[in-house]
Amino acid sequence: MIITLTGFMGCGKSSVGRRLAKLLSCSFVDLDDYIVERAGKSVADIFTEVGEKGFRVFECQCLRELLERPVEGDFVIALGGGAVTTPECVSLIRQHAVCVYLTASEETLQKRLSGDTKRPLLQGESLEQRIHRLMEQRAGIYASVADFEVATDELTPMGVAHEIFKVIN
Ligand code: S3P
Repeated sequence: MIITLTGFMGCGKSSVGRRLAKLLSCSFVDLDDYIVERAGKSVADIFTEVGEKGFRVFECQCLRELLERPVEGDFVIALGGGAVTTPECVSLIRQHAVCVYLTASEETLQKRLSGDTKRPLLQGESLEQRIHRLMEQRAGIYASVADFEVATDELTPMGVAHEIFKVIN
């Protein structure tokens, strides 16, 4: 089974994904890391060079590579927070994987993301406004793509991984 983790930046997709893969004794890939490795440049540099649109095209291509490669047993993928805004990515996820939405309140996200300098979509106007605006656009998409949700506000990454493990086993 391929398990994809979705949710807003800072919801814990990568740290949960790593722990879930340990519980399942399977491999883990962070989609952003895979993109950086394939492109040979940072996410921020890709945004600067080809904009968000170009990044989404490449992100989808990378996700396709990961989802269509042969796997034995389980495989965990932490998606980027905006991957599910691309309809083609959503079809790929629906076709090949189970999807878990890691929810977090805007207050929690603000705490976890304060001081971030790496994520292009969080730079500029106030963090609070950025999170609010993007969450307004995305909350419905995350919920509609996911097979189930786990609230992360009160849990450690290992606690979240255990919750997912219980549901899929
Ligand atoms: C993005 C989330 C980032 C990264 C890029 C865009 C988004 O991944 O893919 O900066 O649109 O939400 P994380 O969710 O892993 O931070």
